[in-house]
Amino acid sequence: MCGIVGYVGKKPAQDILLSGLKRLEYRGYDSAGIATLDSEGEAKLARSVGKISELSKVLDEAPQDGNLGIGHTRWATHGGVTETNAHPHHVGRIYLVHNGIIENFKELREELKGYKFASDTDTEVLAALIDSNYKDGTSLKDAVAKSLKRVRGTYGIAVFSPSEPGAIIVARLGSPLIIGLGKDETLIASDASALLGYTREAIYLNDGELAVCTRDGADVFSLDLKHLSVKPETIEGDVEQIQKGGYDHFLLKEIMDQATTLHDTLSGRIKPDAGKMHLGGPNLTEEEMRNIHHVVIVGCGTAYYAGLLASYYMEQLVPDLTTEVVVASEYRYRSFHLPKDSVALIVSQSGETADTLACLREIKKRGVKTLGIVNVVGSTIAREVDGGTYVHVGPEISVASTKAFTAQVITMLMFAGMLAEYHGGDPKLLAEFTRELAILPEEIKKTLDTYRPEMEKLAKKYAKFDHALYLGRDTAYPIALEGALKLKEISYIHAEGYASGELKHGPIALVDDRFFEVFTILDNWLFDKACGGLHEVRARGGKTIVLTNSKADIEADDIVRIDSPIKLLTPLLLNTLQQLFAYYVAVDRGNDVDQPRNLAKSVTVE
Ligand code: G6P
Repeated sequence: MCGIVGYVGKKPAQDILLSGLKRLEYRGYDSAGIATLDSEGEAKLARSVGKISELSKVLDEAPQDGNLGIGHTRWATHGGVTETNAHPHHVGRIYLVHNGIIENFKELREELKGYKFASDTDTEVLAALIDSNYKDGTSLKDAVAKSLKRVRGTYGIAVFSPSEPGAIIVARLGSPLIIGLGKDETLIASDASALLGYTREAIYLNDGELAVCTRDGADVFSLDLKHLSVKPETIEGDVEQIQKGGYDHFLLKEIMDQATTLHDTLSGRIKPDAGKMHLGGPNLTEEEMRNIHHVVIVGCGTAYYAGLLASYYMEQLVPDLTTEVVVASEYRYRSFHLPKDSVALIVSQSGETADTLACLREIKKRGVKTLGIVNVVGSTIAREVDGGTYVHVGPEISVASTKAFTAQVITMLMFAGMLAEYHGGDPKLLAEFTRELAILPEEIKKTLDTYRPEMEKLAKKYAKFDHALYLGRDTAYPIALEGALKLKEISYIHAEGYASGELKHGPIALVDDRFFEVFTILDNWLFDKACGGLHEVRARGGKTIVLTNSKADIEADDIVRIDSPIKLLTPLLLNTLQQLFAYYVAVDRGNDVDQPRNLAKSVTVE
């Protein structure tokens, strides 16, 4: 959701900005633009609605010279998707790109009487505010700082002015901004993936900080203009990780890559021989571990469903633990109370989701320890939690989350495994979970390789339907929710997930020939009950697909049976089949699989 790039150095800025914007495409956007400053001190602006390829066409017609520039991908919030609303915004002597929302922009616009506004955006108002403070004798840095003190809301910004060539001012409050330090060049990005291949050294700006970037590096200040000494950090990852590696789409690559990425998630964290799990990141003393009796898990979308599945496993492993799984957008505004013996798990692939971040801050206010289950290293949530564990699956580019889901579940499971040791958990069960974790990457690989052709065939058969119900019981219930979410996100088929025990309480009324039903049925003590729902749907003529690890007789229109020594973690294996199914349905329907309409990878505004 909205991306910022910037460059100041010796190379042509236009190409670097465009390739940076392409790297950020996955975040979701609906327009894009760049502004550059040439050696004569002349600034040029190009913007277009639609994909970066549209912007490239504009730039092919009218290339922009210069070794300094800023770029942006916009996801509309204030004002429609038009070229005038796209960034960069140019007002007076100011060129500006902005992520976030200026909440008091109407009030500020009223005050800025001398300005005529071309767009409906809050960003143009901020550009005007900076321009109004950029009087003779004032530096751009001072003008930006003065303006930002007037702003209510969130921002990550990059600004330049032809009056001060050679410098880009950046600042952040609630929206990430990273400064890459190269040799004779400085890069700016809202997401580290845009910096990969250019430099490994970076400054992650904190909220309330501003920096002056030149090709020689960056000077960081507080908004009160106190100079801050900042130690650069190392960016993880490499360029291969953000390329498709022979697959048609990032989504398929990320599904198929799970075997490898889960190795990284598990690496050094499980001891199958000893039947133990260990995470270093939570940083809790033995006494603190012993005192935890309540875990609240917070997330949005797929991260929320990962939390839901993990909560089942936690309850199985830790006998005296109460778990609560909450949707961040709701929880942040509830008058919630947390017992003193609580710990909060903040689950987020990007580490930037606005609602999840807001919950983290609310929970911290209540004095409860927060642990991050995060993928993006150095992200805001990762930096603000008290402790936590990176899931280490590498960049997830496709908007729909796949490999992060699996890794989030097993990371929380490993946390539960640690807790179990201090809470009288059954050592046999702990050993069983550990054994299954150790073989999970290989079993996922086998499952994906074996059933991929079958899932493709099945997808072709069901791609023409308008509606789907996903049903599951016990640990297959969160998987039903996640399966339905995946299908609707990328295929646009209307899909709902339900606990199969809820069928009779409403959804069964929907069963007709426009629907198909996906049942995830586990070979466990609830098998017969899980099949009950299936029979009810079939009796009403429903078209059914069953995903199962059971060898028992099951009647359905289509059955995919996996055969694996994995038992407890079967939902994770079956979920990878759902991921493939959703992928192939979306391909069959001709959709933009990696960047589905209206969705953003990282939802940094409410
Ligand atoms: C968006 C993405 C989802 C993701 C959710 C939470 O909706 O499209 O794929 O699950 O945000 O994101 P997070 O980065 O916090 O896990």
